[in-house]
Amino acid sequence: MPLPLIIDTDTAADDCFALLVGLLDPRADLLAITMVAGNVGFDQQVDNAFLTVGLSGRLGQVPVYLGARDPLERPWLSASDVHGDGVGGLVRPDDGHAPSDEHAVDALVRLARENRGALRIVAIGPLTNIALAVQRDPEFASNVGTLYVMGGSINARGNITPAAEYNVYVDPEAADIVFSAGIRDVVVISWDPLTITDAVFDQARIDRIAALDTPLSRFFVRANQATFDFDVRVGLGGSSHCDSLSVLLALDPSLATAERRYRVEVETEGTITRGATVFDWQSDDNNVTAIEKVDGERFFEYMLELLSATPGGTEPLDGAPGASDATDPVSAES
Ligand code: BDR
Ligand code: CA
Repeated sequence: MPLPLIIDTDTAADDCFALLVGLLDPRADLLAITMVAGNVGFDQQVDNAFLTVGLSGRLGQVPVYLGARDPLERPWLSASDVHGDGVGGLVRPDDGHAPSDEHAVDALVRLARENRGALRIVAIGPLTNIALAVQRDPEFASNVGTLYVMGGSINARGNITPAAEYNVYVDPEAADIVFSAGIRDVVVISWDPLTITDAVFDQARIDRIAALDTPLSRFFVRANQATFDFDVRVGLGGSSHCDSLSVLLALDPSLATAERRYRVEVETEGTITRGATVFDWQSDDNNVTAIEKVDGERFFEYMLELLSATPGGTEPLDGAPGASDATDPVSAES
C-alpha cells in the first residue's frame, strides 16, 4: 500500500527535486503539496511547484494548496541569493491548472484527520503551516503519523547565520510550537552534520546526472545551478540535497544508518543565536529522532535512477535565469 504523504514546501531548487520524489516514487501516495513562505517569492514558488508537477506528468492528480505567505511573527526573509528563482529561469507553461480553494492549513488538518496515525508529512520549508495546523486543531498533533522536518543543525553550524539553519531561522516561533506540540514521531533531517556530509552532489555527480539527458535530468541541472554555485562558493564542495533526502527518508527509512533520540529546543529570543536548535542528548523527555547518517551513495544512485525516468510530462519553457523577488536578499547556506 502506498504511504499517504504531504510535502510542505517553499518550492525552489531542491524542493522541486523533493517533489519529484513524492510525485514519481510508487511507494508514495502524495495527497497534497502545501505551500509555505520561504526560499523565493510566494507566487514564484507556486509556479515552480506547478512546473514540477507538470514535468512529472501528474497535473490534476495532486492538489496544490496555498498556505502562509509570512512567518508567524516576523517578516519573510528571501533566500533568492542562494537559489535565484529556484528553477534557473525556466518558465511554467500555460497549463490551465490553479491551486485548490482550500487553505493549506485546513488541508493539513483535514488530511491528518482522514488518515489518522498513518499520514507522513515532510516539511521542507519554514514550519509556519505546520504550527498553524497545531494551533487550529487540538487533535492535529495526535492525528499525524510521522512528521519529517528538514531543519536545524545538531549543536553545529548554521547556514543563514553561524548559529541557525534557514528553515528554522525564518520562523523560529513556528518551529518552537511544532517541536513542543507532542507529535508522537518527529524525525529531524539536519543541515549539519547530516546533509552537508551525506547529501552533497559534487561536480562529478552533477555530470552523471547531466549525462542522462532526460527531461528530468535537464531540469535538475538547470534548476540546481544557482544553488550549486552558491554552495561551492561557501565551501560545501557541491550542492546539498537536504529536501529530496527528507522525502526519500519518509518512503525508505532504511536509508538511515545512524539515528538518535534528543530533546530539541529552539532559540526564539537570542540576538546572535535566533533560530538555533539546541539538541539535549541527556534528556529523559525526548521529542525528536535525529537522523545522523545515511547511505549517501545509495541516495545519489536513487536520484540518478529517478531522473532517468521519462514520465511524459510537459517540459518547462526557456527563460532567462533570474531572481524572483525584489526584497533584500540574505545569504543562506554559508
Ligand atoms: C533549507 O533551506 C532552503 O533554502 C532549502 O530549500 C532547505 O529546505 C536548507 O537550509
Ligand atoms: Ca526547502
